[in-house]
Amino acid sequence: MIRIGIVGIGAMGAGHANQIASGAVPGAELAAVCDADSKRLEAFPDTEHFTDHKKMFDSGAIDAVMIATPHYFHTPLSLDAIQAGIHLLVDKPLGVHKADCERTIKAYEDRDRQDLVFAVMFNQRTRPIYRKLKSLIDNGELGKIRRINWTITDWFRSEFYFRAGGWRATWKGEGGGVLLNQCPHQLDLMQWLFGMPCRVRSFGALGKYHEIEVEDEVTSYLEYPDGTTGVFIASTGEAPGTNRLEIAAERGRLIIENDEISWLRNEIPTAEFSSSTTERFAKPPVWEVRVPVEEATVQEHAAVIGAFVKAVSGEGNLIAEGIEGIRSVELGNAMLYSMLKDTTVEMPLDGAAYESMLNELIENSNFEKKTVDPGIASADEMSKSF
Ligand SMILES: NC(=O)c1ccc[n+]([C@@H]2O[C@H](COP(=O)([O-])OP(=O)(O)OC[C@H]3O[C@@H](n4cnc5c(N)ncnc54)[C@H](O)[C@@H]3O)[C@@H](O)[C@H]2O)c1
Repeated sequence: MIRIGIVGIGAMGAGHANQIASGAVPGAELAAVCDADSKRLEAFPDTEHFTDHKKMFDSGAIDAVMIATPHYFHTPLSLDAIQAGIHLLVDKPLGVHKADCERTIKAYEDRDRQDLVFAVMFNQRTRPIYRKLKSLIDNGELGKIRRINWTITDWFRSEFYFRAGGWRATWKGEGGGVLLNQCPHQLDLMQWLFGMPCRVRSFGALGKYHEIEVEDEVTSYLEYPDGTTGVFIASTGEAPGTNRLEIAAERGRLIIENDEISWLRNEIPTAEFSSSTTERFAKPPVWEVRVPVEEATVQEHAAVIGAFVKAVSGEGNLIAEGIEGIRSVELGNAMLYSMLKDTTVEMPLDGAAYESMLNELIENSNFEKKTVDPGIASADEMSKSF
């Protein structure tokens, strides 16, 4: 059994702890829970309690740790876990900004314990629909991709949501808004499926729909090294909102929406048709393709934890290697930097320039956030979070 400790027993950490305690992750045992607020630990009376993560790391009670605290703590806690030689699974995002992610990755590369496992929680990578799309892209079924358009605006969040977490949606407490809290999954899927863009230009607004100081609406235009273009639109202010990924490729147009893939497949690839037809207004004939997608058999967070536990035992591959976590952070940072500085970002992003912009936002903030005490979120409420 791999003995797991969790730091941060809030909404998400309690969910992870319940998954492990209920036996949903074979080979894993919930050995310890740690939260700066001791009241959060009361829900796990049969597990060892800590209010100081260092004491948990030094206790000998755990083999591996999951970090589910507010984002800014992900970096210092990861550095301490790596130094203590404890296997590490960090919830998304890996860090608030690129320079922090680089600090964690550097510590991992310089680690003493060579068999240390380092993973990041990108549970949406386990969704069968995205795995199918990745295989279609990687196997060349779609041909070269010309354009990507992801509208991800079904992240509606109420004022109560923002008031319920004092750290949320502040530069100092969270370090960003929709790009850093809600979108890390889509930003990771963007880079996992399509690679990193070479140029980013964004527009958006801070606190447009909510009483918050960070971004709640962003539209980004992306350019890729091979000429592919993309548009990424995110918002926490729209209801009912949309989650639609549209890909225009040589082999036609593929859309993922409402948990279905619809693909109009060009019988002749677009470029080949364009250069060979003698008609002026013709388009390639298309087939309507039904792409079968398997049912998910394991809850997605449990699947990530399960792969982590196996990797700690020396078997199998992680769903997402920890070092890959920097890419979605860099992408989101580049979008926000472009929007706030009203400039085009040439990638790779200058991590030091971003960190200094963020520090200025923190120093110059005089925003007074309204807060409420929401109590502890139920498992049912959390299941709507992701
Ligand atoms: N993977 C997913 O699907 C998913 C979904 C939701 C949230 N998350 C991530 O989980 C993390 C936590 O989010 P949440 O919604 O659970 O927040 P939350 O505010 O509900 O819980 C955070 C908890 O961390 C504790 N904490 C803060 N600093 C600490 C420290 N230094 N040491 C120990 N405990 C500390 C707080 O007391 C609180 O109980 C965030 O990084 C978020 O992005 C991931």
